Amino acid sequence: AVRLRVREALGAREAAAAVRVQGWVRSVRSQKEVLFLHINDGSSLESLQVVADPSLEKKDLTFGSAVEVQGKLVKSPHRMQNMELQAETIRVVGPCDIWSFPLKMKERHPLEYVRQFPHLRCRNNTLGALLRIRSEATAGIHSFFQDNGYVHIHTPIITSNDCEGAGELFQIETSREAKESAEKTHFFNVPAFLTVSGQLHLEVMAGAFTHVFTFGPTFRAENSQSRRHLAEFYMVEAELSFTESLQDIMQVMEDLFKTVTSTVLSKCPRDVELFHKYVAPSQKGRLEQILKKKFMIISYSEAVEILKQAAQTFTFKPEWGCDLQTEHEKYLVKHCGEVPVFVVNYPYDLKPFYMRDNEDGPQHTVAAVDLLVPGVGELCGGSLREERLPFLESRLQRLGLTDTYQWYLDLRKFGSVPHGGFGMGFERYLQYILGVDNIKDVIPFPRFPHSCLL
Ligand code: 4AD
Ligand code: MG
Repeated sequence: AVRLRVREALGAREAAAAVRVQGWVRSVRSQKEVLFLHINDGSSLESLQVVADPSLEKKDLTFGSAVEVQGKLVKSPHRMQNMELQAETIRVVGPCDIWSFPLKMKERHPLEYVRQFPHLRCRNNTLGALLRIRSEATAGIHSFFQDNGYVHIHTPIITSNDCEGAGELFQIETSREAKESAEKTHFFNVPAFLTVSGQLHLEVMAGAFTHVFTFGPTFRAENSQSRRHLAEFYMVEAELSFTESLQDIMQVMEDLFKTVTSTVLSKCPRDVELFHKYVAPSQKGRLEQILKKKFMIISYSEAVEILKQAAQTFTFKPEWGCDLQTEHEKYLVKHCGEVPVFVVNYPYDLKPFYMRDNEDGPQHTVAAVDLLVPGVGELCGGSLREERLPFLESRLQRLGLTDTYQWYLDLRKFGSVPHGGFGMGFERYLQYILGVDNIKDVIPFPRFPHSCLL
């Protein structure tokens, strides 16, 4: 028999004898004359209908069990599906104890419910759709950069620096070091951390390859129980040499967003539809509109002026020099008509050491940009980097970081060029395009304060 995935069977053009399909039972319906099964193997949202003689029914053939069905693939008489499988044999590969199985047949389980079972929730339609979309988006991101001449770099996960300087690092110690904490030795001789961003390593590589990107896990010990923070998340980062304007960086962000989103919409229309139908009905059709629109650009100073007009609506009063809070970001996006908005030129004192000084004043800013999107807030953060040795030296000196960043200063001595880049939070991206409220529902195994299941 020819082995077919469910997706292939459903899409077959013509009938075929001797076909074998494997998967997990999504429903069993037993009638006097006929037994109906639906089996799913993760290759598509739709399950394949299996029609069998009731004599093939057996005790272990239940919802959730793993089965192998062999038979004839035929045109289905039902309008809703193309093909169905007429079973000749059904083998239960692995039975399922339905009484203790947390998923129930034909039930739309709430996302908060299935979150309790990270080892089983992928068998649920919503998580299934999400993970297929996540996979296509990952491929789309790689294609976008590869097609545009960027070199992919595997930046390290273990590093000795704190790129963002926000002190939200997970420090690494071996299990032996943890036990013998009296002995202050380090495996690497220096304290080492899980990376918060691959940016500094990308800057090294942009100094040779011009355009580079990375797409890997990043880690932040942010003690926030919010709907948009994880302790382990994936970040897409790009770095471009010979770039003198933030406009160029914003253009890449916008192109990346639009290209990858169109890919996802065309590759997984049914999976996306599930979200826009059941999870975020208000998103329906919105995304297609946004893909056609130019993203807006406002400066941080303009943003603060807009916020001040509505000061009474905020818990945190907007003030020039203060970080934009979630409530501020939400308001700005709404004010701009619920479209993505770039906010540029943030206060010098708010941002990390590597951002390029705009040398303006008295409201002193750096060439930074954040992309804010409806429902999520900050999706991307980027900047031009300080490529001028004297500027960088004096900033690092004031922060007491000159020794740590000798190598970074070196980059400004040996063929320094104007450059810049950005990072996009991959989970926030998925949250936005799918309209998912909680970031924990867009990653297979979420890590957040007080929770590291599995
Ligand atoms: O704005 P951030 O901190 O920027 C950087 O790390 C830069 N070094 C990137 C660069 O220029 N190469 O983080 C970038 C994005 C944020 O805009 C947000 O979408 C996401 O990463 N992000 C998080 N996503 C989930 N959970 C968290 N705890 C996140 N922190 C940041
Ligand atoms: Mg940021």
